[in-house]
Amino acid sequence: MIISCANEKGGTSKTSTTALLSWELASLGYKILMVDCDPQANLTDLMLKTKSHENADIVIDPSLFALLIQKKDLKEGIINIKDNLSLIPAAADMNMFSRWLDKQNIDENQKVNYLKNALKDLKPNYDFIFLDVSPTMSLTNDNVFMACDWIIIMLQTQQRALLGAQNFLHYIQTNLIDEFKAKVDVLGVLPVLTKGQSKIDNAVLNKTKEIFGEDNIFNNYIMAMERVKRYDLTGITENDKSVWDRATHSAYKVVAKEVIERLEDSSNE
Ligand SMILES: Nc1ncnc2c1ncn2[C@@H]1O[C@H](COP(=O)(O)OP(=O)(O)O)[C@@H](O)[C@H]1O
Ligand SMILES: [Mg+2]
Repeated sequence: MIISCANEKGGTSKTSTTALLSWELASLGYKILMVDCDPQANLTDLMLKTKSHENADIVIDPSLFALLIQKKDLKEGIINIKDNLSLIPAAADMNMFSRWLDKQNIDENQKVNYLKNALKDLKPNYDFIFLDVSPTMSLTNDNVFMACDWIIIMLQTQQRALLGAQNFLHYIQTNLIDEFKAKVDVLGVLPVLTKGQSKIDNAVLNKTKEIFGEDNIFNNYIMAMERVKRYDLTGITENDKSVWDRATHSAYKVVAKEVIERLEDSSNE
């Protein structure tokens, strides 16, 4: 199963959610691979800090881009982070992937399916592969969404976010599903609450339910938690003695379990 937490904007908690959902699913015993497809490499940075417990400047070699353009087995890039959790890291060179791909002498269909094909052999080895994306509409992200079985739409509870989410879904529908027969489907809209804005949050949530249907909205939301921000600096920590670590992990565990439930429900339909 390949999943991406997606949105047309930056700063909507995509990377943090990808990291923490992957972390919790791994703790629950699922075998997880994260693939960083964003040239900003925030997920790579977070995970390498998590692994090394320090600010070490680790050289990314090979990067996802290097593996892809040299047509190497993506397995060669896998870094183990903790039990059941691995990462294929990105570096800034991922910026060049769209242009490189566009110049290849292959047809449009092969261009949008390049990453999907590269992931094919790895897919059976994992329960879940999470692809982290940048907030641009590009051939790189088309490749990501073509490779996905599911996307989780991250929805910040701000007025403009709703329109953004609708535009984003329209883009996926017309450019990938209609045009290239993408198999991707929406697992749900996952609300990301803003701190101290419960009035606006509720107004946007109600509107979201109206537009997308209540069943399509996650029952559990991503709460604003200082600890998540701190993980950007320290890496993810899970100290049983820390109330904040415990609270953060249990909040994401609930969402991770809902991901599993939603997948089970969808396969029963
Ligand atoms: N649940 C949360 N609570 C508080 N801060 C968060 C939360 N999720 C993400 N952030 C912070 O918001 C910023 C953007 O998050 P990030 O996951 O990088 O978004 P994106 O990948 O969509 O650009 C980061 O500084 C991150 O630490
Ligand atoms: Mg990100």
